[in-house]
Amino acid sequence: MGRLDNRVAIVTGGGRGIGQATSLRLARDGAKVVVNDIDDRPARETVEKIEAEGGTALAVVANTVDLVEAERLTGLAVEEFGALDIVVNNAGTTRDKMFHGLTDELFDFVLDANLKTAYHTTLAAMPHMREAAKREIAENGAPDHNRKIVLTSSVAAMMGNPGQFNYTAAKGAVISVTKTLARELGAFGINVNAVAPGFVETRLTAAKKEGETYGIPAAMRDMAKAMIALGRLGEPEDIANVTAFLCSPDSDFVSGVTIPVTGGQLGGM
Ligand SMILES: NC(=O)c1ccc[n+]([C@@H]2O[C@H](COP(=O)([O-])OP(=O)(O)OC[C@H]3O[C@@H](n4cnc5c(N)ncnc54)[C@H](O)[C@@H]3O)[C@@H](O)[C@H]2O)c1
Repeated sequence: MGRLDNRVAIVTGGGRGIGQATSLRLARDGAKVVVNDIDDRPARETVEKIEAEGGTALAVVANTVDLVEAERLTGLAVEEFGALDIVVNNAGTTRDKMFHGLTDELFDFVLDANLKTAYHTTLAAMPHMREAAKREIAENGAPDHNRKIVLTSSVAAMMGNPGQFNYTAAKGAVISVTKTLARELGAFGINVNAVAPGFVETRLTAAKKEGETYGIPAAMRDMAKAMIALGRLGEPEDIANVTAFLCSPDSDFVSGVTIPVTGGQLGGM
């Protein structure tokens, strides 16, 4: 018996890094997992890993910046698995630039990738999650179970981070909309929370080489490690464990909060 048996979950950006670890973790807890990514191969690889462990998953390639794509994603989850109980809005990315050199193109891209993805995926989930709860309330006086929405902020939004005006604008907004959604959706037994990862080993934080899109300077990696109380960088599983808690009945009375998962990082505990 897993604590997410009979639950259907969507994880956006589930093809790599934290999203892949989260997809695997939710599947181990018993959920049927719809692994979304903008990239086909990584999404399929995550599904293969889940199936190899005996879990159930479906890959859906979609760019959830687009509402029509987000609706296709949530629709496929329900078509394939019959319901939608959990949405993990994990998709996100960086395009760092010091503020004086920032362009509208880089600003909009990062706002879209980190905030509009969560906005559209959550909006597209409403007909399936909010309406299902509403029906249950009309029939039985209460929803059958709590449904869960998790968003992904960042410790950068709590501390500020040079070169990340665009990213911290998006991730800060995630903290605010988490509170608003929690207040709107609480009446339907939908918990809305966020995780704020600290420094986690993925392609976003790998030591950056000249000309590469992702990563950060090696000196910044060393500095980050020195600021972490637990003395190590995070692994994707460290975030997945907390997200799994927020998706489970163990967190049924937790809503509207953003949990820093940082190893005790100074300035962004
Ligand atoms: N790695 C860290 O230290 C760290 C720290 C704080 C927050 N985060 C956040 O955690 C989340 C996951 O980051 P990660 O480090 O695992 O990154 P990653 O690049 O390893 O994985 C992100 C995945 O999201 C997918 N994706 C991006 N845009 C998408 C879109 N529009 N639609 C669907 N899929 C999309 C990518 O293809 C990729 O597979 C992001 O929201 C990131 O901002 C990461």
